[in-house]
Amino acid sequence: MTIWVPALDGAAGPKYLAIADAIARDVSCGRLAPGARLPTHRDLADRLQVTVGTVSRAYAEAKRRGLVAGEVGRGTFIRQPAATGFEFGMPLRDAPGDRDLIDLSMNSPALSTIRDDLAPAFSALANQDVLADILCYQPNIGTERHRRAGARWMGYAGMEAEPDQVVVSVGAQHALLLAFSVISEPGDLILTEALTYPGMNSLARLLRLRLAGIAMDEHGLRPDALAEACRRGSPRAIYVNPTIQNPTAVFMPESRRREIAAIAEAQGIYVIEDDIYAYLTPEVPRPISALVPDLGFRVDGLSKSVAPGLRVGYLRAPKSVMEPLAAALMTTAVMASPFTAEVAATIIEDGTVDRIVQRRRREIAQRQKLTRDILGAHVARHSRPESLHVWLGLPEPWRAEEFVVEARARGVLVASPEIFAVGHSPTPHAVRLSIGVVDDINVLERSLHILAELLVSNPRPQMARL
Ligand SMILES: Cc1ncc(COP(=O)(O)O)c(C=O)c1O
Repeated sequence: MTIWVPALDGAAGPKYLAIADAIARDVSCGRLAPGARLPTHRDLADRLQVTVGTVSRAYAEAKRRGLVAGEVGRGTFIRQPAATGFEFGMPLRDAPGDRDLIDLSMNSPALSTIRDDLAPAFSALANQDVLADILCYQPNIGTERHRRAGARWMGYAGMEAEPDQVVVSVGAQHALLLAFSVISEPGDLILTEALTYPGMNSLARLLRLRLAGIAMDEHGLRPDALAEACRRGSPRAIYVNPTIQNPTAVFMPESRRREIAAIAEAQGIYVIEDDIYAYLTPEVPRPISALVPDLGFRVDGLSKSVAPGLRVGYLRAPKSVMEPLAAALMTTAVMASPFTAEVAATIIEDGTVDRIVQRRRREIAQRQKLTRDILGAHVARHSRPESLHVWLGLPEPWRAEEFVVEARARGVLVASPEIFAVGHSPTPHAVRLSIGVVDDINVLERSLHILAELLVSNPRPQMARL
């Protein structure tokens, strides 16, 4: 077995950066393949005649750049191409053959049927009067009609919201940016679930927030761990995804929501509740943000129910922050596009969205059954059966990074737990499958059989080549 040794001849500047650059170079030229294990810190330090600390810094830098993944005791691996470059970004599909990959790595609903649902609302935009209106600048937070539609959409998850507490945003990710930009300052501590939506990680980097992951159980965020984290630090807010959590598909029951709300209230910390998957389940317990209305923000949108390309998000916020929110909208986007906000308002008001929701729920129920029939006990017990995604536990000897790479080699993209990790917290041996996204259920079935075969096989020895 050959040990990878970077060529550092003549590299100027700090040694650790030269090593990290060499990793980047060798990944891009294919000398370091996805899944390849890098030498141990000591091994590489001996070979390069540098200190172990220098190698550790180099690997940490490579991890920061999204090139490698790994933990103490498990080694450092080159990440799959789709996850390199940016931790949170759209997968790059440029390599030959990539078009044939079955992509279960992105959480989106299937879109083939949605075109017909949306066609009348898009045609209505061509009406002169409507056009005259939506071609203009609008109030930053959205027109009264568009915000009313947002309030009505929130009703799907039992959230009562007045239109004057609702803001229209450019998708849910933008709603998060708006919320954090008005409640936090650089350096603030934000508590999240131990595995969280990757958009929160990237947002924290942008706004220079500190994130701390809180332990979870089968009901989501653990109140004892949350209370302890509040005692140790002075958090500004909790970011929580209680209904069908991304990525674990855990569902937080009402009693747990009340406990989280009580802690937030006692500590006076904000709750940013991301409930974008709540529409999938007919009976959602009260949102946490409804239990602490003065501290609670609720993030929602149509990306997971109708289509992500619409970029329609809604944020329900305490009335006291509506002015700063309007200013944040002004700065970040001026306003969400009135075109798609209008389409959204039309389909919410004329009942099209009700039909879409009902169909989505049926579609997902069928796909969940298929997934459980094929992958059986590997689907995590807490993984909610109404969910667009499934949390798949990996049996020994599989490790997540190797499984992701090998699944890709067999034509199926799945999401690695690494992209959901907060800070240096260890990741479980599990992957996320998005079962809603492929249009054709037969394609989904084929990919699930590929994964089922993989689960009962052994990782290929060359996965650890070098
Ligand atoms: C929990 C969660 N919040 C927000 C988003 C972002 O949604 P949007 O595409 O509307 O920005 C996603 C998308 O994956 C998500 O899973």
